[in-house]
Amino acid sequence: MAPAHNGNGKNGSKIPRHVAIIMDGNGRWAQARGLDRAEGHAEGARAVREAVETSTRLGIKYLTLYAFSVANWQRPRHEVEALMRLLIEFAKQERHDLRQNGIRVNVIGNLEDLPTATRHAVEELIEYTRDGDRMTLTLALSYGGRQDIVEAARSLAVRARAGLVLPEDIDETFFHRQMTTHSLPDVDLLIRTGGETRVSDFLLFESAYAELVFLPIMWPDFTAGRLLECIEVYNGKERRFGKTSEQVQGSGAVVVPHPFDPLDRPS
Ligand code: FPP
Repeated sequence: MAPAHNGNGKNGSKIPRHVAIIMDGNGRWAQARGLDRAEGHAEGARAVREAVETSTRLGIKYLTLYAFSVANWQRPRHEVEALMRLLIEFAKQERHDLRQNGIRVNVIGNLEDLPTATRHAVEELIEYTRDGDRMTLTLALSYGGRQDIVEAARSLAVRARAGLVLPEDIDETFFHRQMTTHSLPDVDLLIRTGGETRVSDFLLFESAYAELVFLPIMWPDFTAGRLLECIEVYNGKERRFGKTSEQVQGSGAVVVPHPFDPLDRPS
Protein backbone atom coordinates (compact mmCIF):
# COMPACT_ATOMS: atom_id res chain seq x y z
CA MET A 1 0.00 0.00 0.00
CA ALA A 2 1.22 3.49 -0.80
CA PRO A 3 3.05 5.08 2.10
CA ALA A 4 1.82 8.50 3.14
CA HIS A 5 0.79 10.33 6.26
CA ASN A 6 -2.32 12.18 7.34
CA GLY A 7 -1.57 15.86 6.82
CA ASN A 8 -2.62 18.73 8.99
CA GLY A 9 -4.89 21.45 7.68
CA LYS A 10 -4.35 25.16 8.21
CA ASN A 11 -6.56 25.27 11.30
CA GLY A 12 -4.82 22.25 12.81
CA SER A 13 -7.47 19.83 11.57
CA LYS A 14 -6.31 16.43 10.40
CA ILE A 15 -6.72 15.88 6.70
CA PRO A 16 -7.71 12.31 5.81
CA ARG A 17 -5.20 10.80 3.43
CA HIS A 18 -7.73 8.75 1.46
CA VAL A 19 -11.28 10.02 0.90
CA ALA A 20 -13.73 7.86 -1.03
CA ILE A 21 -17.13 9.08 -2.20
CA ILE A 22 -20.33 7.32 -3.24
CA MET A 23 -21.87 10.02 -5.41
CA ASP A 24 -25.54 9.15 -5.06
CA GLY A 25 -28.63 11.19 -5.90
CA ASN A 26 -28.06 12.47 -9.44
CA GLY A 27 -31.25 10.84 -10.71
CA ARG A 28 -33.43 12.18 -7.90
CA TRP A 29 -31.87 15.64 -8.22
CA ALA A 30 -32.92 15.69 -11.89
CA GLN A 31 -36.34 14.15 -11.37
CA ALA A 32 -37.17 16.69 -8.66
CA ARG A 33 -36.62 19.38 -11.30
CA GLY A 34 -38.56 17.64 -14.06
CA LEU A 35 -35.31 16.86 -15.89
CA ASP A 36 -33.98 13.70 -17.46
CA ARG A 37 -31.79 11.59 -15.15
CA ALA A 38 -28.89 12.14 -17.55
CA GLU A 39 -29.03 15.85 -16.75
CA GLY A 40 -28.56 14.95 -13.11
CA HIS A 41 -25.39 13.08 -14.03
CA ALA A 42 -24.15 16.08 -16.04
CA GLU A 43 -24.69 18.28 -12.99
CA GLY A 44 -22.99 15.55 -10.96
CA ALA A 45 -19.92 15.90 -13.17
CA ARG A 46 -19.81 19.59 -12.20
CA ALA A 47 -19.81 18.56 -8.54
CA VAL A 48 -16.97 16.14 -9.32
CA ARG A 49 -14.84 19.06 -10.56
CA GLU A 50 -15.46 20.99 -7.34
CA ALA A 51 -14.72 17.94 -5.17
CA VAL A 52 -11.46 17.28 -7.03
CA GLU A 53 -10.37 20.90 -6.84
CA THR A 54 -11.19 21.19 -3.12
CA SER A 55 -9.54 17.88 -2.25
CA THR A 56 -6.35 18.95 -4.00
CA ARG A 57 -6.36 22.29 -2.22
CA LEU A 58 -6.87 20.61 1.16
CA GLY A 59 -3.94 18.25 0.65
CA ILE A 60 -5.95 15.04 0.40
CA LYS A 61 -3.57 12.57 -1.26
CA TYR A 62 -6.10 10.04 -2.57
CA LEU A 63 -9.63 10.78 -3.75
CA THR A 64 -11.63 7.82 -5.02
CA LEU A 65 -14.99 8.32 -6.74
CA TYR A 66 -17.62 5.67 -7.40
CA ALA A 67 -18.48 6.71 -10.95
CA PHE A 68 -19.98 3.47 -12.29
CA SER A 69 -20.57 0.14 -10.55
CA VAL A 70 -20.78 -3.31 -12.13
CA ALA A 71 -24.48 -3.21 -11.20
CA ASN A 72 -25.00 0.07 -13.10
CA TRP A 73 -24.84 -1.80 -16.43
CA GLN A 74 -28.43 -2.82 -15.69
CA ARG A 75 -29.65 0.77 -16.01
CA PRO A 76 -31.62 1.93 -19.09
CA ARG A 77 -29.38 2.01 -22.12
CA HIS A 78 -29.69 5.74 -22.76
CA GLU A 79 -28.62 6.49 -19.18
CA VAL A 80 -25.58 4.23 -19.45
CA GLU A 81 -24.68 5.89 -22.77
CA ALA A 82 -25.05 9.33 -21.23
CA LEU A 83 -22.68 8.36 -18.41
CA MET A 84 -20.14 6.94 -20.87
CA ARG A 85 -20.29 10.18 -22.88
CA LEU A 86 -19.86 12.24 -19.71
CA LEU A 87 -16.71 10.33 -18.89
CA ILE A 88 -15.30 11.15 -22.33
CA GLU A 89 -16.20 14.82 -21.87
CA PHE A 90 -14.64 14.86 -18.42
CA ALA A 91 -11.44 13.24 -19.72
CA LYS A 92 -11.13 15.74 -22.58
CA GLN A 93 -12.15 18.89 -20.74
CA GLU A 94 -10.27 18.30 -17.51
CA ARG A 95 -7.01 16.80 -18.71
CA HIS A 96 -5.02 20.05 -18.74
CA ASP A 97 -6.23 21.25 -15.35
CA LEU A 98 -5.65 17.83 -13.83
CA ARG A 99 -2.09 17.66 -15.11
CA GLN A 100 -1.36 21.26 -14.21
CA ASN A 101 -2.56 20.63 -10.66
CA GLY A 102 -0.42 17.53 -10.22
CA ILE A 103 -3.34 15.12 -10.20
CA ARG A 104 -2.70 11.59 -11.40
CA VAL A 105 -5.76 9.71 -12.65
CA ASN A 106 -6.11 6.04 -11.83
CA VAL A 107 -8.90 3.51 -12.42
CA ILE A 108 -10.19 0.61 -10.34
CA GLY A 109 -12.65 -1.94 -11.65
CA ASN A 110 -12.89 -3.31 -15.16
CA LEU A 111 -11.87 -0.63 -17.62
CA GLU A 112 -12.02 -3.22 -20.40
CA ASP A 113 -15.84 -3.45 -19.94
CA LEU A 114 -16.30 0.14 -21.11
CA PRO A 115 -17.21 1.06 -24.71
CA THR A 116 -14.05 1.58 -26.79
CA ALA A 117 -14.34 5.38 -27.08
CA THR A 118 -14.77 5.80 -23.32
CA ARG A 119 -12.01 3.35 -22.54
CA HIS A 120 -9.61 5.13 -24.88
CA ALA A 121 -10.46 8.56 -23.45
CA VAL A 122 -9.84 7.28 -19.90
CA GLU A 123 -6.64 5.47 -20.89
CA GLU A 124 -5.35 8.67 -22.51
CA LEU A 125 -6.23 10.61 -19.38
CA ILE A 126 -4.32 8.13 -17.23
CA GLU A 127 -1.30 8.42 -19.51
CA TYR A 128 -1.49 12.21 -19.77
CA THR A 129 -1.59 12.66 -15.98
CA ARG A 130 0.78 9.86 -15.01
CA ASP A 131 3.43 12.14 -13.47
CA GLY A 132 1.05 13.91 -11.09
CA ASP A 133 2.30 13.60 -7.53
CA ARG A 134 0.03 15.93 -5.59
CA MET A 135 -3.11 13.79 -5.53
CA THR A 136 -4.27 10.48 -7.01
CA LEU A 137 -7.80 10.69 -8.39
CA THR A 138 -9.18 7.20 -8.74
CA LEU A 139 -12.31 6.57 -10.77
CA ALA A 140 -14.16 3.37 -9.96
CA LEU A 141 -15.49 2.21 -13.32
CA SER A 142 -17.44 -1.00 -13.82
CA TYR A 143 -16.30 -1.62 -10.27
CA GLY A 144 -17.59 -4.11 -7.71
CA GLY A 145 -15.98 -4.61 -4.30
CA ARG A 146 -16.97 -8.26 -4.00
CA GLN A 147 -15.86 -8.93 -7.54
CA ASP A 148 -12.46 -7.40 -6.84
CA ILE A 149 -12.04 -9.67 -3.79
CA VAL A 150 -13.19 -12.78 -5.66
CA GLU A 151 -10.92 -12.07 -8.65
CA ALA A 152 -7.95 -11.67 -6.29
CA ALA A 153 -8.79 -14.97 -4.58
CA ARG A 154 -9.11 -16.71 -7.93
CA SER A 155 -5.80 -15.39 -9.21
CA LEU A 156 -4.06 -16.53 -6.02
CA ALA A 157 -5.71 -19.96 -6.26
CA VAL A 158 -4.47 -20.36 -9.84
CA ARG A 159 -0.94 -19.43 -8.82
CA ALA A 160 -1.04 -21.65 -5.74
CA ARG A 161 -2.13 -24.58 -7.88
CA ALA A 162 0.83 -23.91 -10.16
CA GLY A 163 3.12 -23.87 -7.12
CA LEU A 164 3.98 -20.19 -7.61
CA VAL A 165 2.47 -19.05 -4.30
CA LEU A 166 2.51 -20.81 -0.94
CA PRO A 167 -0.73 -20.57 1.09
CA GLU A 168 1.30 -19.44 4.12
CA ASP A 169 2.59 -16.45 2.13
CA ILE A 170 -0.92 -15.07 1.76
CA ASP A 171 -1.59 -12.31 4.28
CA GLU A 172 -3.68 -9.15 4.02
CA THR A 173 -0.93 -7.12 2.32
CA PHE A 174 -0.18 -9.84 -0.21
CA PHE A 175 -3.88 -10.35 -0.90
CA HIS A 176 -4.41 -6.63 -1.43
CA ARG A 177 -1.64 -6.59 -4.02
CA GLN A 178 -3.80 -8.77 -6.27
CA MET A 179 -6.71 -6.31 -6.22
CA THR A 180 -7.35 -3.45 -8.65
CA THR A 181 -6.98 -1.15 -5.62
CA HIS A 182 -3.41 -2.38 -4.99
CA SER A 183 -1.87 1.10 -5.32
CA LEU A 184 -4.28 2.71 -2.85
CA PRO A 185 -3.94 2.92 0.93
CA ASP A 186 -6.86 2.08 3.22
CA VAL A 187 -9.80 4.48 3.08
CA ASP A 188 -9.85 6.98 5.96
CA LEU A 189 -13.13 8.72 5.21
CA LEU A 190 -16.00 7.30 3.19
CA ILE A 191 -18.72 9.78 2.23
CA ARG A 192 -22.08 8.91 0.71
CA THR A 193 -24.56 11.50 -0.52
CA GLY A 194 -28.18 10.79 -1.43
CA GLY A 195 -29.56 9.89 2.01
CA GLU A 196 -29.01 6.12 1.92
CA THR A 197 -26.88 4.52 4.64
CA ARG A 198 -25.28 1.62 2.81
CA VAL A 199 -21.93 1.03 1.12
CA SER A 200 -23.28 -0.60 -2.06
CA ASP A 201 -20.32 -2.85 -2.82
CA PHE A 202 -17.78 0.00 -2.69
CA LEU A 203 -14.25 -0.63 -1.38
CA LEU A 204 -15.37 -3.41 0.97
CA PHE A 205 -11.84 -4.58 1.75
CA GLU A 206 -10.23 -1.14 1.84
CA SER A 207 -12.83 0.54 4.09
CA ALA A 208 -12.38 -1.86 7.01
CA TYR A 209 -11.50 1.04 9.35
CA ALA A 210 -12.94 3.96 7.42
CA GLU A 211 -15.06 6.58 9.12
CA LEU A 212 -18.43 6.72 7.38
CA VAL A 213 -20.31 9.95 6.76
CA PHE A 214 -23.77 9.88 5.19
CA LEU A 215 -25.24 13.11 3.84
CA PRO A 216 -28.92 13.67 3.08
CA ILE A 217 -28.12 15.94 0.11
CA MET A 218 -28.05 14.80 -3.52
CA TRP A 219 -24.64 14.57 -5.20
CA PRO A 220 -25.10 17.62 -7.53
CA ASP A 221 -25.53 19.71 -4.37
CA PHE A 222 -22.20 18.61 -2.93
CA THR A 223 -19.91 21.62 -2.53
CA ALA A 224 -16.50 22.51 -1.10
CA GLY A 225 -18.28 23.51 2.13
CA ARG A 226 -19.88 20.07 2.42
CA LEU A 227 -16.52 18.38 2.04
CA LEU A 228 -15.11 20.58 4.81
CA GLU A 229 -18.04 19.60 7.03
CA CYS A 230 -17.30 15.92 6.42
CA ILE A 231 -13.67 16.49 7.39
CA GLU A 232 -14.84 18.20 10.57
CA VAL A 233 -16.93 15.13 11.42
CA TYR A 234 -13.90 12.94 10.68
CA ASN A 235 -11.81 15.07 13.02
CA GLY A 236 -14.33 14.54 15.80
CA LYS A 237 -13.88 10.74 15.65
CA GLU A 238 -11.43 8.75 17.69
CA ARG A 239 -9.89 6.11 15.44
CA ARG A 240 -9.18 3.12 17.63
CA PHE A 241 -8.45 0.32 15.13
CA GLY A 242 -9.65 -2.28 17.64
CA LYS A 243 -7.82 -0.78 20.64
CA THR A 244 -9.39 0.83 23.72
CA SER A 245 -9.80 4.56 24.01
CA GLU A 246 -7.21 4.62 26.85
CA GLN A 247 -4.62 2.81 24.75
CA VAL A 248 -5.13 5.23 21.89
CA GLN A 249 -4.97 8.32 24.14
CA GLY A 250 -1.92 6.98 25.99
CA SER A 251 0.20 6.18 22.97
CA GLY A 252 -0.35 9.55 21.34
CA ALA A 253 -0.72 7.76 18.03
CA VAL A 254 -3.01 5.16 16.58
CA VAL A 255 -1.12 2.21 15.20
CA VAL A 256 -2.67 0.33 12.32
CA PRO A 257 -2.75 -3.33 13.32
CA HIS A 258 -0.37 -5.78 11.72
CA PRO A 259 0.08 -6.70 8.89
CA PHE A 260 -0.70 -3.34 7.25
CA ASP A 261 2.23 -1.24 6.21
CA PRO A 262 3.34 0.66 9.35
CA LEU A 263 3.84 3.76 7.24
CA ASP A 264 0.07 3.74 6.76
CA ARG A 265 -0.61 4.67 10.37
CA PRO A 266 -2.63 7.80 10.99
CA SER A 267 -0.93 10.40 13.17
C1 FPP B 1 -25.61 7.56 -8.59
O1 FPP B 1 -26.75 8.42 -8.61
C2 FPP B 1 -24.61 8.07 -9.51
C3 FPP B 1 -24.10 7.36 -10.56
C4 FPP B 1 -24.53 5.99 -10.88
C5 FPP B 1 -23.12 7.97 -11.48
C6 FPP B 1 -22.16 8.95 -10.91
C7 FPP B 1 -21.63 9.78 -12.01
C8 FPP B 1 -21.33 11.09 -11.96
C9 FPP B 1 -21.36 11.84 -10.70
C10 FPP B 1 -20.94 11.89 -13.16
C11 FPP B 1 -19.85 11.33 -14.01
C12 FPP B 1 -18.59 11.06 -13.29
C13 FPP B 1 -17.39 11.60 -13.59
C14 FPP B 1 -16.21 11.15 -12.85
C15 FPP B 1 -17.20 12.62 -14.62
P1 FPP B 1 -28.14 7.82 -9.04
O2 FPP B 1 -28.31 7.98 -10.49
O3 FPP B 1 -28.26 6.41 -8.55
O4 FPP B 1 -29.13 8.73 -8.26
P2 FPP B 1 -30.56 8.29 -7.67
O5 FPP B 1 -30.29 7.41 -6.50
O6 FPP B 1 -31.14 9.59 -7.28
O7 FPP B 1 -31.31 7.62 -8.77
